[in-house]
Amino acid sequence: MDVPGRVHYKAAISRLLLPSSSLVPSDKLVIVIRAADSPLLPQQRLRSLLKTVSWRSSPQHLTTTAHRFINVLRIPNVMATDMTTSVSSIGSLKRIPQSRLQGKECLGRSSASKTRQQLKWALYTCAVVFCLQALTEMVDAEPVLASSLGFCKPVPVLKGAPLHCCLPAPRRFPIRFRFPRIPRTFSGRPILRERKPAHILQNDPEYVRKYNLAYARMKALPDTDPRSFLNQWRVHCSFCNEAFRQRKTPGPLGPETGVLLQVHYSWTFLPWHRMYLYYHERILASLINDPTFALPFWNWDNQLDQDAAKMPAMFLPNFGIPNAALFDEFRNSNHFPPKLLYLGYNSKLEAEGQQNLTDQQIKYENLCVMYNQVTTKISARDFLGGPYVVGTDNSAATVNVSAGETPGESGGMESVHNVAHEWTGLINDPDHPDNEDMGNFIYAARDPIFYTHHSNVDRLWDVWKTIPDKVTKSGDRKRMDFMSRDFLDTEFTFFDENQDMVIVKVRDSLDSSKLGYKYTDVSESDNMWIYYEPLPAQESSKTCNSSEYPAPVPSGYNYIGMDPVSFKLDRRAPTTKDCRDKGVKSVDQLQEDVVLERVKIPHSEYARFDVFINYPAANRRTRLYMSEFVGTFTHLPSGMVDMSKSVSESASESDDKFRIVTIRYSVNAALKRLGITDYNTDIVVTIVSKGARNSSPKTGFTFSNLKQDFQ
Ligand code: C2O
Repeated sequence: MDVPGRVHYKAAISRLLLPSSSLVPSDKLVIVIRAADSPLLPQQRLRSLLKTVSWRSSPQHLTTTAHRFINVLRIPNVMATDMTTSVSSIGSLKRIPQSRLQGKECLGRSSASKTRQQLKWALYTCAVVFCLQALTEMVDAEPVLASSLGFCKPVPVLKGAPLHCCLPAPRRFPIRFRFPRIPRTFSGRPILRERKPAHILQNDPEYVRKYNLAYARMKALPDTDPRSFLNQWRVHCSFCNEAFRQRKTPGPLGPETGVLLQVHYSWTFLPWHRMYLYYHERILASLINDPTFALPFWNWDNQLDQDAAKMPAMFLPNFGIPNAALFDEFRNSNHFPPKLLYLGYNSKLEAEGQQNLTDQQIKYENLCVMYNQVTTKISARDFLGGPYVVGTDNSAATVNVSAGETPGESGGMESVHNVAHEWTGLINDPDHPDNEDMGNFIYAARDPIFYTHHSNVDRLWDVWKTIPDKVTKSGDRKRMDFMSRDFLDTEFTFFDENQDMVIVKVRDSLDSSKLGYKYTDVSESDNMWIYYEPLPAQESSKTCNSSEYPAPVPSGYNYIGMDPVSFKLDRRAPTTKDCRDKGVKSVDQLQEDVVLERVKIPHSEYARFDVFINYPAANRRTRLYMSEFVGTFTHLPSGMVDMSKSVSESASESDDKFRIVTIRYSVNAALKRLGITDYNTDIVVTIVSKGARNSSPKTGFTFSNLKQDFQ
């Protein structure tokens, strides 16, 4: 779309409210967009879009579609060729301040300032009429609008019949999210409910009793109740295992695209799970009539307190205080306390008996993994994940890169969170090939520990924003969420404690205090990984000769087998072009990344690989507290075996079932430790696969390219 005013136009759409009128199929709808947002569109273009809409769909569908607009003027059988006719009807519409328009609007904003005077004059004298079809056709990238209504398919699993993860229909029309009313002290300070560490709360019998009671009641609700534990699990199963399709226009029943919806592997990962937990917690609280109730968090990144990184005892058998509702039989009993959750964990190595670290080694590796997955990732993209807009297909091997489609891209937080899933589930148990519960996205939310794990993931998102730069040359870059409207206006639906379906936007999720909760301050342990210093770089790494290693085959198949593979990576200096859309003022604020593009991993396999720079000798035994280690990725199987069937509408590689994902490694800090301060020095990137679970030929996987990038 080459029209500078595109973003303004989109902004107008997003403000549209709900009319109550019902419509009949013979109605002709005229959608009126405020002049304030439209003059930047060339008049000619506007005219070409000027159409009436003849609705062929059912009245019911029509009504719900119409709910998306602030002013769907109901003008039966009128051709809206006379713009001034419409003007009077929109006189009360408000203007969106320019400051609200963020993200890709740079172009539009500069044009806007030039013509501001004219625009003011034109503000309410020019109205623009669009038809819905034109609207959807003209926009090339849009926020994903996801809802659990409409199309829903069963989710295939490795063993047995496909799972039904679809949600009950809401009793009434979905409602828009509203921030909760937060109680205040006499002096006006907000009283936030506090999510506390699980290893502390388990010493509080009163809390455990309430927590257990809340789950007991949730589990006792009938299957038809959207608040039931079964349906809470289904929320995760369906949104995380592609039971639904993306929508492309606002509202819970907007037209669907053919692309399956997946909330992992992108920037939706953190916001979606935050809101999922928010409603889960509100439901638990209401079931025990305690509005102050808050979930615990499993503080597994904490290497200071000896109990924090263990599986919290309150979830385990023989706890002492009744905890039956918190228990789940599908957990790896080999990992019960006193075992520490190991962020370098790989089930394949463990099965081979090759994972015998001391607690001390585990702690140091854990600190260094956290440091590389959180501290060194300063850009939103590195931490939260890559963009997910309409058409992004994270679901399987359906990505056709030559057609411009993008695969998923996990952020640092998501990649490390996968390890805790893998570690908790029934790994290496031949009776449980799906690795239920936690080790598989389909089943994960059947285990109450899931929500306390995600509570920590959610906490770390808040912590991330407070970490000082320590990464870029300038040293003064702030960590911020994405500001693009494609991110902010992404929509999801959840059921609330009143069984209502609520439409939530990503922008609603960004500030946890506005949602009424906070986390216990555990900064003493956070600081251990935030300020972690790996072992000093080895001399041989500082002088590593990259010319001895092959360059990756661009856009080709680069194989990662069981043995480590090393590639030479050409580097260049960043230019001002690299600053575009990154929210940075200068190249010195940029983060340098090594990007593994389109890693193709068999869908139902575990896989883990760690990445090192200038250390081609790295192997599966190399400890992760080295200077040369820059990050990790763990792939969880989603338990779906026949992706060619489940995505039959768009499958282009039906010969096998793959997850395709792009992973970033942030290398500024490591380069500094290696003494590489210029951009002329090329580096060696070594990928150490720790193997997939099965020893089939598929244990190897491929990637399409390795490149340097700036964020
Ligand atoms: Cu939706 Cu931890 O996963």
